[in-house]
Amino acid sequence: MSNGDVSQGRRRFLIGATSVVGGVGVVGAAVPFVASWNPSAKAEAAGAPVTVNVSKVEPGQQITVEWRGKPVWIIRRTEEMLKNIEKLNDAVKDPQSEEPQQPQYIEGVYRAIKPEFAVLVGLCTHLGCVPSYRPEVAPADLGEDWLGGFFCPCHGSHYDLSGRVYQAQPAPLNLEVPPYRYDDDATLTIGLDPEAA
Ligand code: FES
Repeated sequence: MSNGDVSQGRRRFLIGATSVVGGVGVVGAAVPFVASWNPSAKAEAAGAPVTVNVSKVEPGQQITVEWRGKPVWIIRRTEEMLKNIEKLNDAVKDPQSEEPQQPQYIEGVYRAIKPEFAVLVGLCTHLGCVPSYRPEVAPADLGEDWLGGFFCPCHGSHYDLSGRVYQAQPAPLNLEVPPYRYDDDATLTIGLDPEAA
């Protein structure tokens, strides 16, 4: 193997390692972006809409923005994640989101305008703790049936990657979906409904 081959192999490895960090390293990595996206304190206090460019969110990554003093998560879901959500329809309490935990234009199992991006208020519907993002499949602490989702550390409520709460949990309802719209393919505004057709 020549030196050229070695450095090519190394570059491939580095690219692979970076992708893993983007997919699983999530929260910590997202913080610097989030800080720069936050509106001014004054705008926040007024409950102003928050506009977010989602083009740099990696598949599998979660970012958090603040809207009206609440954490709002945006998760870029992979095809595998979307398939896993469908497998959980019998395990969750309100699979079709019939409870009013989302605007009227949000429906179905993906609970999103575009399935690729979940937009959720990151507060547990039990007593308001912030659940942890746990996208891994079958981690040791959550068991082999776990297909990715959110785990609330306060009293153990489980949610899937659409924010649907599992059956028989302390939390009574799915995570809230805030009003939001797409300004273009890569830009979301949280706090504004889609314009009427
Ligand atoms: S606040 Fe989440 S389970 Fe109680």
